[in-house]
Amino acid sequence: MSIKLPFLKFKDKQIPDKKRIEQQNIPEHVAIIMDGNGRWANKRGLPRVAGHKEGVGAVQKVVRAADKLHISALTLFAFSTENWQRSKTEVDFLMRMPKQFFHKYLPELMERNVRVETVGNFEQLPDHTKKAVWNAVEKTKDNDGLLLNFALNYGGRLDIMQAAKKMAEDIKKDELSIADVDESVFGSYLYTNGMSEPDLLIRTSGEKRISNFMLWQCAYSEFWFTEVFWPDFDEEVFMQAIQAYQQRKRRFGSV
Ligand code: IPE
Ligand code: IPE
Ligand code: MG
Repeated sequence: MSIKLPFLKFKDKQIPDKKRIEQQNIPEHVAIIMDGNGRWANKRGLPRVAGHKEGVGAVQKVVRAADKLHISALTLFAFSTENWQRSKTEVDFLMRMPKQFFHKYLPELMERNVRVETVGNFEQLPDHTKKAVWNAVEKTKDNDGLLLNFALNYGGRLDIMQAAKKMAEDIKKDELSIADVDESVFGSYLYTNGMSEPDLLIRTSGEKRISNFMLWQCAYSEFWFTEVFWPDFDEEVFMQAIQAYQQRKRRFGSV
């Protein structure tokens, strides 16, 4: 005999039966390493940047799916501290992506009550990128729906290092005592201060590595990998990840 579980009704529409998602145990925070844009383009004989352009649509698809499921936070790894090593053409293109994305989707983000945030070294970004991102952060700051967090010029090591530096400054200024430093205090110096840790980390494109993403914050995240290249990512693949997450047994070191 099968046990009937309560299922979640989508805000916009009911999910078809086979894609039903248990209402309980929806991850609070989902993070995605959006990978495979270049290979998606190469496969089609297109320049790498065509994959980045196509990936913008996938971003909005996942935002819609996360919103429907009432997920609290969605972090998207958009540019790593190592991605500066790419060609100038590609880096310049990637730096124009936020403007493209917000130009097209900011009205929908507002409608969906989404709040935009970023983590990473914001200062190092070109002015036009900062302006586009800042505008979205400002416009959405009073929204209290899904938190859409872009990891932009983000590196897990950078995050830990800048936190250690800021903390050392505060200790030097006698604003913090070494004895009071614990994991929660340290966590408050990270870029992700105030955000929950990712419950589920998805990586597309078949790569099975963390590539310097949230090294501290992913200590107990569940990892889910798919061969799908980022531009092909959609609600269906996202639901597969959520369903896989719901089958996991998280123990956090306990039994
Ligand atoms: C992800 O796709 C986008 C960024 C890292 C900015 P890639 O550009 O890494 O695509 P692949 O991995 O080379 O296919
Ligand atoms: C990770 O992807 C960074 C982002 C998705 C923004 P990369 O494509 O840069 O990672 P590696 O080089 O394959 O490890
Ligand atoms: Mg890649």
